[in-house]
Amino acid sequence: MSKVFHLVYLSHAKDSITYTDIQNILNSSRKYNKVNEISGVLIYRDGYFLQLLEGNEELVLETLSRIVRDRRQHHLQTIIEATSNQRIFEAWSMHFFDADTATSETQKLVNDILDLAFSSKYKEKENILPMIRCFKKNQKELT
Ligand SMILES: Cc1cc2nc3c(=O)[nH]c(=O)nc-3n(C[C@H](O)[C@H](O)[C@H](O)COP(=O)(O)O)c2cc1C
Repeated sequence: MSKVFHLVYLSHAKDSITYTDIQNILNSSRKYNKVNEISGVLIYRDGYFLQLLEGNEELVLETLSRIVRDRRQHHLQTIIEATSNQRIFEAWSMHFFDADTATSETQKLVNDILDLAFSSKYKEKENILPMIRCFKKNQKELT
């Protein structure tokens, strides 16, 4: 089985970001990611994006370089790079979670993930991937 590369980054959404912008981002993400066999999740909270990209390392990094150049976000900061034997988001080319409007019980978990991403405690950031795995389990009903 080939290894799966996981990359998590945090970035600032542009000031004037709208839900139409986010919908456009998701549409092109899903189109490109399907072709590149990239899966993951995009979380939006209060002007920030946290995204997990997973798949072939070269293709994930190529996708990241397109996102870095994208003016709908800025100050992108990679938080986690790791390899494993299994994807977290098998079936989704890019799942979306809006932490600003969600009311589900997973909201607290998502907030914890983002708080950790912002934290300066580098060692604790390793918990982000297991927490995203847990988030995915709670989201099963959406598949
Ligand atoms: C927050 C954010 C997340 C994005 N996620 C992806 C993604 O997962 N996959 C992808 O192909 N493009 C993603 N994009 C869009 C790319 O930046 C880019 O617009 C798109 O891939 C088309 O690239 P091109 O204009 O060079 O053809 C994202 C953009 C933003 C702002």
